[in-house]
Amino acid sequence: MNRLAPSLLGCDFSCIKDQIQAVEQAGAHYLHLDVMDGAFVPSISFGMPLISSIRKCTGMVFDVHMMVQEPGRYAAAMKEAGADLFCVHQEACLHLDRTINQIKELGMKAGVAINPATPVSVLDCVLDQVDQILIMTVNPGFGGQKFIPYTLDKVKNLREMMNHRGINADIQVDGGVTLENAPLLLKAGANILVAGSSVFSGDPGANTKAFIKILNQYEAKA
Ligand code: DX5
Ligand code: ZN
Repeated sequence: MNRLAPSLLGCDFSCIKDQIQAVEQAGAHYLHLDVMDGAFVPSISFGMPLISSIRKCTGMVFDVHMMVQEPGRYAAAMKEAGADLFCVHQEACLHLDRTINQIKELGMKAGVAINPATPVSVLDCVLDQVDQILIMTVNPGFGGQKFIPYTLDKVKNLREMMNHRGINADIQVDGGVTLENAPLLLKAGANILVAGSSVFSGDPGANTKAFIKILNQYEAKA
């Protein structure tokens, strides 16, 4: 099913509760939460204290994108804070299979993310173990960057690989997603669109509705 995952990193943190509720009321099902450690990526964002606080004001699926070295260290604490889906970078896990099992044993959905320069072939062995693959469409670390065009082919190749093997996991795309490139991404085989600045700049509720309209159009065609 096609879904929008507004990325909280793009919101106005001075009125975070209003911003979360605006996207939820407009129909967003997921809330994408970007956790950065200043080591795997240059920047630092937020962690468990913020996530457990906002858990009280929304029923959306908490989709936690861990841009953190060895993210398995935080899986239990994130589950406790309210994470539903825990997505780790392939590049950040020395023992990826172990980390995926750890996430599933805690009762969370497991996602694996890859950077733009990482080929989809690295996912070969774990493809049937995960609920979601995240194809980064910018280099991770900051909101508001420009979509990297060659990542579109990675989405297509991954969907073909999965169809060929009869695997029906979600494909999420993250970075520089706009109302303009959303149709291309959905046609290529992505079904969860993460969007930070294009949801939270201007009117988050109206932007969410515009994205959901496109998602529904492509759902109908699928
Ligand atoms: C980037 C993060 C993204 C970011 C997307 O490292 O993973 O989720 O918030 O922001 P936009 O949609 O503005 O590119
Ligand atoms: Zn993200």
